Amino acid sequence: MSSTVASDTFREAAAAFGTGVAVITAEGAAGPAGLAVQSFASLSLDPPYVTFSPARTSTSWPLIRAAGRFAVNVLAHDQAALSRRFATSGGDKFDGTEWAPGENGAPVLAGALACFEAELEDELPGGDHTIVIGRVTRAVALRDAEPLLYFRRAYRRLVPA
Ligand SMILES: Cc1cc2nc3c(=O)[nH]c(=O)nc-3n(C[C@H](O)[C@H](O)[C@H](O)COP(=O)(O)O)c2cc1C
Repeated sequence: MSSTVASDTFREAAAAFGTGVAVITAEGAAGPAGLAVQSFASLSLDPPYVTFSPARTSTSWPLIRAAGRFAVNVLAHDQAALSRRFATSGGDKFDGTEWAPGENGAPVLAGALACFEAELEDELPGGDHTIVIGRVTRAVALRDAEPLLYFRRAYRRLVPA
């Protein structure tokens, strides 16, 4: 279906919505997998659900989906290089990345602010993305530091309003 909204206008408006950055990880059949996302959100408190939306073109999502469980690593202000690494398709994103398996086996990245471990609960079609819902099995605040932010295609830091 053709759209009446020009895609560059849509992108420009969407880029005005600043967010934190998370890396979704899983222990795949052939080793750890992961990708950087802006689309993470806590969705429901009872039951505890989180959501994120991988693009249909994501090469990591099919590996995470097959694992059936994942971790959401909320990045800190000093982890922009890590985010860039996980925002680049291909290669071994975990080579040189410090991590340890969480309780569900998914990689917990060293230096992350917080981590949610989740079981894949549901997935819904979302155009050229998939809306993923995870049931949280463990949530832990790991570090008292400032978040990494992403706004208008650039990494940013927090300043008081
Ligand atoms: C800050 C930031 C946020 C991103 N958010 C998303 C997202 O929510 N969903 C998505 O599919 N890709 C997102 N991306 C792009 C993916 O990280 C990128 O396409 C990555 O190469 C996918 O890797 P994969 O092919 O290994 O899955 C984001 C990239 C950056 C830099």
